[in-house]
Amino acid sequence: MSLRNKDLLSIHDLSVGEVAHILDVARKLKKKLKNGEPHEYLKGKTLAMLFSKASTRTRVSFETGFHQLGGHALYLNDSQTQLGRGEPIRDTARVLSRMVDGIMIRTFSHDSVIELAEYASIPVINGLTDLLHPCQALTDLLTIEEHLKVMKGRKFVYVGDGNNMAHSLMFACAKVGMNMVCASPKGYYPDPEILRQAQEDAALTGCTITVEEDIMKAAQGADVLYTDVWTSMGEEAERDQRMKDLHDYQINAELLKVARPTCMVLHCLPAHRGEEITEEVLEGPQSYVFDQAENRLHVQKAIMVLLMSDAVI
Ligand code: CP
Ligand code: NVA
Repeated sequence: MSLRNKDLLSIHDLSVGEVAHILDVARKLKKKLKNGEPHEYLKGKTLAMLFSKASTRTRVSFETGFHQLGGHALYLNDSQTQLGRGEPIRDTARVLSRMVDGIMIRTFSHDSVIELAEYASIPVINGLTDLLHPCQALTDLLTIEEHLKVMKGRKFVYVGDGNNMAHSLMFACAKVGMNMVCASPKGYYPDPEILRQAQEDAALTGCTITVEEDIMKAAQGADVLYTDVWTSMGEEAERDQRMKDLHDYQINAELLKVARPTCMVLHCLPAHRGEEITEEVLEGPQSYVFDQAENRLHVQKAIMVLLMSDAVI
């Protein structure tokens, strides 16, 4: 099994074994970092990071992670590159392929990322599009495994907008055999084609991926409760309507009561306290959101090492 020179655009494209391998390498790299062991597997390499949207975690974890691996990461946002002035993505792909060793991109259209990967001869990593956020969802698997040990057969409940995060979590759960329920109001259900693909993946690992409008019913017996913002980047004009429509889809103490007593609460962050999650739950003992944020570093380092080197870890 080798991920060398491949792209990471969607978890759907990864095999069950490849997902397990990424998590395994992430655990090993995390240990190496904690033990102070050198792990410069990407010494002398360069990563271009293209950002058309804001970021704290993604930028810092990729940039710091690449540095820890011995390489150099370039932060490029739209106001600094010719992409922002209309240079085609296919030209950018070919130019960067002549100069750097990998590209991480955060943008709006998922199709642009597919086009970038088609024209680039180097690995492309999806750092979030309107459709998917695979690096976050892979990271969330590591966080769940660290705390619950076994993922297969667990109940994972996503609450809120059926957005990019929900989509990637459906694929992530499907790959490790976790039963996933997406609790969303009508009009905010996940994309039906993504749901269909995730259900196809789930059939291979023997779990279920479903959508449920009744949030209390969905949360019954949950091992993990997860939420994300009601208004994603690029949807700001819809904010008032979304606040109304998603009002009841909040992780709060009442919802937590119907989950298992050991239920983990996760949020990819940034969080809007009092909207998709209460302050009490976010800051409470069942919240693992900062472990979750830290793990971005370890999982993405694993992804970069596997895509961009022949190292055996
Ligand atoms: N969770 C996440 O991707 O955070 P940023 O938007 O800060 O990168
Ligand atoms: N759904 C959110 C995730 C942020 C990390 C967004 O796209 O803005």
